[in-house]
Amino acid sequence: MNVLVVGQGGREHAIVRSLKKSPKIHTVYCAPGNGGIEQDAVCLPIKESNFEELADAAKKNDIDLTFVGPENPLFDGIVDFFQEKGLDIVGPNRLAAQIEGSKAFAKDLMKKYNIPTGDYQVFDDKEAAITYVVEKGAPIVVKADGLAAGKGVIVAQEVEEAIDAINSIMGDKVFGEAGNKVVIEEFLQGEELTVLAFVDGTTVLPMEPAQDHKPVFDGDKGPNTGGMGSYSPVPHMPLELLEEVKNTILQQTVEAMNQEGYPFSGILYAGLIITKEGPKVIEFNARFGDPETQVVLPRLKTDLVDVLQAIHQHTLNEIQLEWDHKAAVCVIMASKGYPGSYEKGLPIEIKDLPEEIEVFIAGAKKEAQRLVTSGGRVLGVTALGSNIKEAQEKAYEGVKQINFEGAHYRTDIADKAMK
Ligand code: AMP
Ligand code: GLY
Repeated sequence: MNVLVVGQGGREHAIVRSLKKSPKIHTVYCAPGNGGIEQDAVCLPIKESNFEELADAAKKNDIDLTFVGPENPLFDGIVDFFQEKGLDIVGPNRLAAQIEGSKAFAKDLMKKYNIPTGDYQVFDDKEAAITYVVEKGAPIVVKADGLAAGKGVIVAQEVEEAIDAINSIMGDKVFGEAGNKVVIEEFLQGEELTVLAFVDGTTVLPMEPAQDHKPVFDGDKGPNTGGMGSYSPVPHMPLELLEEVKNTILQQTVEAMNQEGYPFSGILYAGLIITKEGPKVIEFNARFGDPETQVVLPRLKTDLVDVLQAIHQHTLNEIQLEWDHKAAVCVIMASKGYPGSYEKGLPIEIKDLPEEIEVFIAGAKKEAQRLVTSGGRVLGVTALGSNIKEAQEKAYEGVKQINFEGAHYRTDIADKAMK
């Protein structure tokens, strides 16, 4: 069969690689893809937002199934659009994608259905939000309601900082319409964890947990990024805890979405904090995480094509996921200056890589037969090892084989797993 992956990041590169392993695959297409993905898939130069052209390409290239990587096209209704045209696609429709697209929607849903999360209040009035923050005190978390490219969350250590955040989100509209409302949330203390799950509207199949590293510098210092590295499995996540997450969070959420009339199918991402009272949700996403995918999919032994087809046909209950016992660590190499401004067009040199190392390209393009940087997160180096330590060592060996001017990476990815 032929599949089309929509997107252009490291996550999509990992999805493409996994699909390519399937004996059922004839051709993997990717739109728009990037300079690395084009080694593994036929890249079509169509923007993620151009649904009309994507649908035409799906017809023209006999695509049997389309899979969507990033949130924006989901939130803008790519699934609805393809379905109206009779094209097969896996992912939540526009209304179901609200679980990521509106933090207020997600929090209200959790409250109504007793899904564990922090206390919160939603405001569409700036002054009322400020009064609430002053009353509650710090630390406190301020979140823009809508999509803000991962930058709409401010964990304020001081009340002043929370007020500044409210002013810039609601007053200065630094995230545009996404800041029409804010969610003010209780600060939760504990380890952070990502659990992704395949969902077909009813059945929930959780994947092995992963941990992301959001801040740009070692020791979780500096501003948040899209993610500087990840590892899986998570040793401090016992099986009972995963079972609890499956039952009290994932399954409950999928049922809640059904009750509300927004059946969810695709990938459900639960961002969790393991508090003293148990796991609580800090966010839901309606898609695979980046860079969590780069450590989860390389460990998935089950054919991803079978899983995606089962989601599409609502037969996920017939699938049992199999995992490689090896651990995976992914180290992101980013442009100097990221997540602020950075230079583009710098040549990337990749020397011979040791075994069990994969490079997933994110922000790079081909220019005159050379790979050059074109984004903040340039690439991720994923290594498998018999344990986290071995995977970590190998990933950093891989990093040494890759060069571009000013390359920045954290040197402590997965250290937390070994504490
Ligand atoms: P998000 O973009 O929602 O993933 O949030 C970015 C980061 O803010 C998360 O990775 C957490 O580290 C932190 N965060 C979000 N919500 C909370 C919360 N309620 N308590 C503590 N930290 C939070
Ligand atoms: N790694 C965080 C995310 O994909 O949202």
